[in-house]
Amino acid sequence: MSLKGEIDGVMDGVVNLVELHDRIKGIAPLSALTRIAVAVYDPERDMLRTFIDSTMGECPLSHYVARLGDVPSLVALARAGGPRVVDDLKDYVGDSEHSRKLLDHGYRSSYTLPLMQGDALQGFLFFNAATPGFFTPERLSQLWPYAQIARLIAVLELDKIRLIQAAVKTVRQISYHRDEETGSHLERMSRYGRLIAEGLAEPYRLSDEYVEFLYRFSPLHDVGKVAIPDSILLKPGPLDAPEYALMQAHVDKGRQIIDMMLKEFGMGQVPHIDMLHNIVAYHHECWDGSGYPYGLSGDQIPLEARIAAVADVFDALTSNRPYKKAWSNAEAFAYLRDMRGSKFDPACVEAMLQRAAEVEEIQAHFAETIHD
Ligand SMILES: [Fe+2]
Ligand SMILES: [Fe+2]
Repeated sequence: MSLKGEIDGVMDGVVNLVELHDRIKGIAPLSALTRIAVAVYDPERDMLRTFIDSTMGECPLSHYVARLGDVPSLVALARAGGPRVVDDLKDYVGDSEHSRKLLDHGYRSSYTLPLMQGDALQGFLFFNAATPGFFTPERLSQLWPYAQIARLIAVLELDKIRLIQAAVKTVRQISYHRDEETGSHLERMSRYGRLIAEGLAEPYRLSDEYVEFLYRFSPLHDVGKVAIPDSILLKPGPLDAPEYALMQAHVDKGRQIIDMMLKEFGMGQVPHIDMLHNIVAYHHECWDGSGYPYGLSGDQIPLEARIAAVADVFDALTSNRPYKKAWSNAEAFAYLRDMRGSKFDPACVEAMLQRAAEVEEIQAHFAETIHD
């Protein structure tokens, strides 16, 4: 396929990093290229996380998270804004866990490009080979156009998520502003969800992409609340039966909003978009079938919704709400423990309990509405 064909393929969403890698390997001088990967940068926490990888989960750096400040060579690269070639990763062993892990898995040389949007760092694109000195000037000139395509794939994937988030933010802002489903609740619950997903990644074979999309989509779980009147949403006391039924309708309203957005924005091709749908539609289902609106149970409930449910409820319990004071973490953890196997997926609860220290860190960082 021609280069233009490749680019059209990316724009149409049919070429991903794995396929691009396959095509590059078909070019004789580049056939020994062993890995293409993207890490995304979270400026809020100065964290770098692996995101997409051409080796399909056999990657030594799956579920890898590092503080960018702890990897001086990447900090320098981001500042310079240009590419970097490392002829032998042995020279970089002291630099980071990142380089050590690559070396342990037989990677010897690397070519790294920062992904920038204007002055803002979005992440890094990595190419690796098993031989030292692989990235010669000749090979780099052959690789360069493909590197641009890989960059395009990465940026488009990130842009698609941003577009959805921007659309939802707009929906929120044009609706009345109020309520607990603002800022810090969403910041915290999406991060709790990510902790749980990280904990389940090994046993459930979850990819970094899954973990990242879960994190990015879960703040949209209650988008349907824009259609619920303030008199119910902000009522400082228990809801009566008709009010509760109206409140429950936020799930169906949310599903309709998401479906409409996907249609209007032509987002059906966005990767993992089914996760967004599942989180919105099933985050009030319970493990034992007692939830709403469908009464699904166990594995019938998509994993992302089971994770979001634990993260959402934990944050609701530990926050002040119009109808209640914040619980302590110990009380909220005890509640999760009591409810595992009934309300919640026991594996999700267990994963959350394992990360209590990080939960506190998240609470300290996004502290606006809790325990006050
Ligand atoms: Fe909800
Ligand atoms: Fe929520």
